[in-house]
Amino acid sequence: ITKIAVMTSGGDAPGMNAAVRSVVRTCAYHELECVGIHRGYDGMIEGDFIPLDARSVRGIINKGGTFLKSARCERFRTTDGRQIAHNQMVKAGVDALVVIGGDGTFTGALHFNAEFDFPVIGIPGTIDNDISGTDRTLGYDTALNTAVDAIDKIRDTAHSHDRLFFVEVMGRDVGHIALNAGVGAGAEEILIPEEDMGIERLVESLQRSKISGKSSSIVVVAEGDKIGKSVFELKDYVDDNLEGYDVRVSVLGHMQRGGSPTCYDRVLASRMGVKAVESLIEGKSNYMVGTIHDTMTLTPLEQAIKGESKINKELIRVSEIMTT
Ligand code: F6P
Repeated sequence: ITKIAVMTSGGDAPGMNAAVRSVVRTCAYHELECVGIHRGYDGMIEGDFIPLDARSVRGIINKGGTFLKSARCERFRTTDGRQIAHNQMVKAGVDALVVIGGDGTFTGALHFNAEFDFPVIGIPGTIDNDISGTDRTLGYDTALNTAVDAIDKIRDTAHSHDRLFFVEVMGRDVGHIALNAGVGAGAEEILIPEEDMGIERLVESLQRSKISGKSSSIVVVAEGDKIGKSVFELKDYVDDNLEGYDVRVSVLGHMQRGGSPTCYDRVLASRMGVKAVESLIEGKSNYMVGTIHDTMTLTPLEQAIKGESKINKELIRVSEIMTT
């Protein structure tokens, strides 16, 4: 291998810049050339590459977003799109690829590898933490801290006005952010897709809280919760079925994807970048780097995407006890 390309793809996540920096510096350390691909697979199809050396990634370890930019690319889902992308990679003399993203990004990488035998290694970059083969994905820790900080602030105003707040957090189909931020912020209830609480139990529990003397409450709701109601419908339901609650809704949204990465995410990004490049040098392909019990690991990309839910059952129990 002489030239590695690196790109960020799918929803951005804090720590992506730190991961690109690590990939670039590891290439420089091993005297390999490195190019960045702008806008994920879109940029690969368009040949939008920039040479990156160790100095070109200075001052970015603490920056949110991704300086390479990111996109969700429809054209790469087609064989024609991938053929054009491969032609661009060959033209640019690139012989291996590091992709930083989530399951959609890894699915694209798997197709690309299968069709052209092109060496690829994935770095899991998503706030959702919905990838198997790593205890944490890049950006998840920062998003959690952002969510906890926001919920703390909402609690201040909820308390002043004796209000009930439904706070919706991101996470796509999984409840990692909701469960952890909910426990961390001391929420009264946490609704996650992995546990169907049911609307009646929620109402009963809120009733009990009221009777036990609570004047304000925070209910953290994962966006993928299966209770079958949006946060706004939950508000309407409680308005119609519970006396004495002044209810508000706050959807945290994309603020959870921004901001300077935490130290944890910066360190994780640095470790993952080194492992990704050195795995390619060792001739490995079609793996995702991760950390399990603080040890760097490689998991086949296919398994990383299709793995079982890694929601922490013990933490669910803790949350039930804490919300008593
Ligand atoms: O995967 C990251 C994520 O932020 C999810 O939590 C959320 O469901 C989705 O992306 C939002 O996507 P978009 O940025 O396209 O609105």
